Order: sequence, then C-alpha cells, then structure tokens
Amino acid sequence: MPDRSHPLPDIVYLDHGATSWPKPDVVVDTVVRTMIEAGGNPGRSAHRIAMAASRAIVEARSAVATLLGVPDSRNVIFTSGSTAGLNLAIKGLLVPGDRVVVTSMEHNAVVRPLNLLATRGVIVDVVRADAAGRVDPDDVEAAVAAAPTRAVICQHASNVSGTIQPVGDLADIAHAAGALLIVDGSQGAGHLHVDLSALGADVYACSGHKALLGPQGVGILYLAEGVEPEELIQGGSGGRSEEPTQPRLRPDRYEAGTLNTPGIAGLGAAVRLLAEQGAEVRAAEVRLARRLHEGLLAIRGMRVLGPPPGEERVPIVSAVHDRIEPDRIAFELDRAYGVAVRAGLHCAPWAHETLGTLETGAVRFGVGWGVTESDVDRALEAVAEVCG
Ligand code: ALA
Repeated sequence: MPDRSHPLPDIVYLDHGATSWPKPDVVVDTVVRTMIEAGGNPGRSAHRIAMAASRAIVEARSAVATLLGVPDSRNVIFTSGSTAGLNLAIKGLLVPGDRVVVTSMEHNAVVRPLNLLATRGVIVDVVRADAAGRVDPDDVEAAVAAAPTRAVICQHASNVSGTIQPVGDLADIAHAAGALLIVDGSQGAGHLHVDLSALGADVYACSGHKALLGPQGVGILYLAEGVEPEELIQGGSGGRSEEPTQPRLRPDRYEAGTLNTPGIAGLGAAVRLLAEQGAEVRAAEVRLARRLHEGLLAIRGMRVLGPPPGEERVPIVSAVHDRIEPDRIAFELDRAYGVAVRAGLHCAPWAHETLGTLETGAVRFGVGWGVTESDVDRALEAVAEVCG
C-alpha cells in the first residue's frame, strides 16, 4: 500500500492540462496492489497470478467502456497515451493520396504525424478556428465539400484555450461526405461527459493520466465497429501464436506486447470513481475555472485566451500579460509561491498561432480533481503580486 508517511508537497497544483495530480488514493492503492496481487503477464500464462492480471485488464476495459458509453468493450484499446492512439489511427488509416481536413487548433500529437504523412502524399487541408479557438462547422463543411475527404480530425477541447469544439456537428458533416471523424479527446474525457454511443466519432483517443485521473503511461483508443486502421506494432498477443501475422481480433490486434497492467488497473479504479463522482467533479471544475478566469481578467494588463467567462470551456485558462512574460510568471509562481502552472507553447504551436500568441506563448492554469477555491484564490493573489 502507498506509504502515507510521505506527505504530499504543499503546492497549489494548477497543471491539470499536463497531467492530473495528486491521483486519488484508490488509484495509487490499485496500482500498488496490482503489482503485488496481479503481477503476472495478462493474457499469457494460465497460472493464478497471470489470471489475476488478465482479470484486472478485463475489469478496467469494461469500466472504461461503461464510462465512455461503448457497448462492446473490445472496441476500447489500451495504449500508452493519446499520442500513441492518435499515431495509430492517423498512420494506420491514411494512405498516400488521401485527403484530411484538420483544424488549426490541433496539438502536435496530430500535427506532427500529419506533417510526416504530408511528405508521403497525404493531402492536409487546415480549417482555421476563430480568435477564441472556435471551429465553425460551416467552414469544415465547405472544406469537406471542396474535394474527396478520407477523414476530418478535430480535438474535443483545446489544451491551450479550453475551447470546446462542436464534434457532434463535425461527425454529421464528415459522415455525410463519407469521411471518418477522428477526435483527439485528450482534454475532453473526464472534463466532459463523453458518450461515444451518441457522439458520432469513429475514432476517439485520450490520455488516461489527465482528467480521467489514471497514472501516466496509459491511454485509451476507441475504434468504432468497422474502423480498422493497420496496426503500427506487430508482436505477441498471447493467443493464436501459430499465425504468422497479427491476428485481426480486437483488442489483441492493437495491443501487441506486454500491457501496462498496473497502470491500466489504476485507470480502471479512476474511471470507476468518476462514474460515481464525475458529475460533481465536473461541476466544481466549471465553477473554479470561472473564478480563476474572472480573477485573472481583474488583474491589470492580463488577457485571457479563448471564450469569455460564462461561455462553455474545459477548465483550462491561459493568459498573457502585457509586461511580464509567461515563462517569468510561471517561474515566479513556482519559486516564490508554490503554484504549479505551465508556460510556453504547450506543444500546440498551431493553436497559439490561431490565438495570436505564437511569439509569446501563454501561461496556462489547469483546474482539475482536488483543486479548491482557496487554491484558486492563492494562485490569483500570487499572480497579482508577480504582475503588480
Ligand atoms: N499535452 C499536454 C499539455 O497540454 C502535455 O500540457
């Protein structure tokens, strides 16, 4: 069990956009317990400790499927994170000559694989979002109508501005044109109620370690029935070992090699907790993000990116000051006040370009599970002093 004699450091943690911290006790306990009680290799050997590992994976897969509204848990693939899931989907589905329509708010987890594929003959057309990071479905519809399109790729929510994209509308637009909708759900799942049976995404990739509250090194890739990207990694899948090529069975096809059983079990515990408390957690996040947003706007010289207060967003609030650089603010917040935030381009230069902050970057405050009103107030007081 976790050693409770190691207290958490006294910091105000507002870097939930990067990863959630601290993790709920049940997640930490489950990771440790799994390593002890279910430490065999899942899906391989048939002895009791390997069977316990297999059970841990099955239970976690089923908990994730339930939380995300996926009727058949075989359509939930475990990955190492959303970057791995997006790479699998993008590189496994697109071939030279295919055209994709993508938004200007995407993270490098989408942009860099696409830039590589563009050198191999995939055509990439970008739809520009507005100054608050909002993608207009009409613009996507026009782009899709302009030429045959294999896929539309869009984030669920921005890791820079918190802007929530109209992914349901984009699914309708993509499907009407015979295209797939691939969603980067890194900042969606957990912060938003995600029901994949209704959303219409053909592919939804997300991290386990952000708002889903799992450990780092685990992610989720949902593939709708019939969407069959070529697997990126071939290898042992535990069964059908006599077959010379990767079995096409899900999820085995996409999970070659030994899985991160402790991490996946920890994610399972996290999503079970969210299944019970998610609505309450999300309501608190919305309230605190708004308090933070309004508090930042009240600081002279501060500009907040993304939609105005009161408009929907995930609890990510990024800002720029007219005198003090984002890096300086983040550094001072950590050094002098124990407030953890992230400054810079957030691995999302396209989004910063769209929002007008490519040259400066921004300082990002990310609210999440465990953040309190007094954390937000302590951070705001510190920002006011740093920028005063
Ligand atoms: N993509 C993560 C972030 O936005 C790591 O910070």
